[in-house]
Formats: sequence, structure tokens, C-alpha cells
Amino acid sequence: MARKVTKAIFPVAGMGTRFLPATKSVPKEIMTLVDRPLVQYAIDEARAAGITEFIFVTSRGKSALEDYFDHNQILEQTLKDKGKDDLLATLEATNMESGAIAYIRQHKALGLGHAVWCARRLIGDEPFAVMLPDDVIAGQKPCLQQMIEAYEETGGNMVATMEVPSEKTSSYGVLDVGDNIGQVVRARGMVEKPKPDEAPSNLAVIGRYVLRPSVLYNLNQNKLGSGGEIQLTDAIAEDIRNGVPVFGYKFDGQRFDCGSKAGFLQATVAFALAREDLRDDLRQYLHDVVATGQAAQ
Ligand code: UTP
Repeated sequence: MARKVTKAIFPVAGMGTRFLPATKSVPKEIMTLVDRPLVQYAIDEARAAGITEFIFVTSRGKSALEDYFDHNQILEQTLKDKGKDDLLATLEATNMESGAIAYIRQHKALGLGHAVWCARRLIGDEPFAVMLPDDVIAGQKPCLQQMIEAYEETGGNMVATMEVPSEKTSSYGVLDVGDNIGQVVRARGMVEKPKPDEAPSNLAVIGRYVLRPSVLYNLNQNKLGSGGEIQLTDAIAEDIRNGVPVFGYKFDGQRFDCGSKAGFLQATVAFALAREDLRDDLRQYLHDVVATGQAAQ
């Protein structure tokens, strides 16, 4: 039986240039979807999957993200005094156990693979999850939980995957598919950001991974890949060449690319429409805007 996964790495050291100027001072991961920062969605998903150790790979300018996880006792007391129990419960649900979160610095943005490698000493010799908070996945059962349940049957490495239009393969890691076993596919290889005519399939890798420590050993070589960056995809592909199975998991759920402005806006609308307190007004507003084609002046 596969070893239990209790640690997750959250690589958040990227520069978030697609959200400039906001990301000059606001880390992308604490930008809010409705009223919760992106990172809170990722933390909740990780907790639901049984993760108890949360390792953030951060960089200069991310201190607001670190502060977000501090307990705010003054605010909690004020809400208690005023009898605002609902807000207090919302706030308390975000509190993390002391010692559950660790921060590691990536000193230079050398790529996602390098960011993951920076956490190697905190992972040791255990399987671990990697979650990219800017991929937000809405679903009945949280995506990472689906994957860990599947991984407990298969072992090896597992990556979340979904079909993308052929013209979009150059934005993703893409699987070369061997056996297709329903929701799980076995990969023969993986390529980072292939051009559409070179992509081995249209199954793209999305920001959820369950990995063996061997991937960290592969990253020890610090090999540069696509875009001159150290790529996580390449380190996972090396495991395939070494005979370690890599599976793609076609998750149930809707994925939003909140690293892009269009994806962030779509997620904002979708998550707001899922909220009883916002749904009716927003639906009416969207209806009116679409009908009149009115934009902000
Ligand atoms: P992105 O490719 O989305 O880059 O990284 P980015 O810097 O966050 O955003 P843009 O493209 O400039 O707008 C994917 C994930 O990998 C992390 C990012 O923080 C994000 O979670 N990452 C990327 C690192 O932690 N370190 C790196 O060197 C590169």
C-alpha cells in the first residue's frame, strides 16, 4: 500500500507579472475570489485531503501572504464582544495549528521545478503533494482528495490532468498517454509547453501533483528546460524513464486558471453565483450588462 501523504508544497515564489501593477505589492495568492484569498481555497482543499504540513516556497515581497496565516486575536475578540458569531466562525475556520506552516525562500525565480526542490529538506523521504494556488478547482469532492484516493491504489507519481484545445498545449505540461484506464491514464512521457503540432496529446497537466521523493532527487541536477527554467515536468518525466510509473488523473470538477486575468474573472463570477447571498443581484446585473452591452466608462 502507498505511504500516506501528509505534506504539501505550495510554490508561490513566482512574480505574477500577468497581474501587474497589483502584484507590485500584493502577492497573487492573496488576491480575493469573492471574499477569500486564492490561497485559502488551496489550503481548504489540502486539509480535506488529509494534509497536515503546509510548506510554502516564497520569495521577496510575499510577506503579506505569510501574515495572512497569523491568528488575529484582536479581531476575534472584537467580533466576540459584538456577538458577530458568523464572522467569528468564518475567521476561526482559517486559523492554522501552530507549527503546521513552514516558509522556505526561493532566492531566484528559476522555475517551478526549482521552487519545489527548495523544499526538499522538509520533505525528506516521503511522498508529497504539490499545489499551485492559482489553479482553483471547484468540485463536489476536492481535487487533491480525489487524487490521493486514486494514488493510494496506484502508487507512483500522479498529476492532475484535463483536456485542453490543441492550440493551448504550449501553455502546459502535456502527457504522452500510454494506457488509458478510465479516469486514470498511464503516461509514457511528458513534455513541457509543446507547440500544438508537437504535442503528444491534448491532456494537459494542471497544478495538483502527488509525487515521490525520487522527483526531488531528479531535480538535484538543476537542469534547465523549456523557457530556460528548471521544470517540474522534466523531473517527473525522468521518473518515467527510470521505470517509476506516472499517472494522469482526470479529475471531476471545474478548473479556473486564476493566474490569468480572464480565468480570475470567470472564477469570480462562478464562485459569486454559487453564493446564496450574492447570486440574485449578480445574475440580474450580468443579465442587464449583457443585454445593453454596457461597460465601465
Ligand atoms: P507561473 O508560470 O504562473 O508564473 O508559475 P508566475 O510568476 O506566478 O506568474 P506570471 O506568469 O509572471 O504572471 C506557476 C506557479 O509556480 C510558481 C508560481 O508562484 C506559481 O504558483 N513559481 C514559478 C515559483 O514558485 N517559482 C518560480 O521560479 C516560478
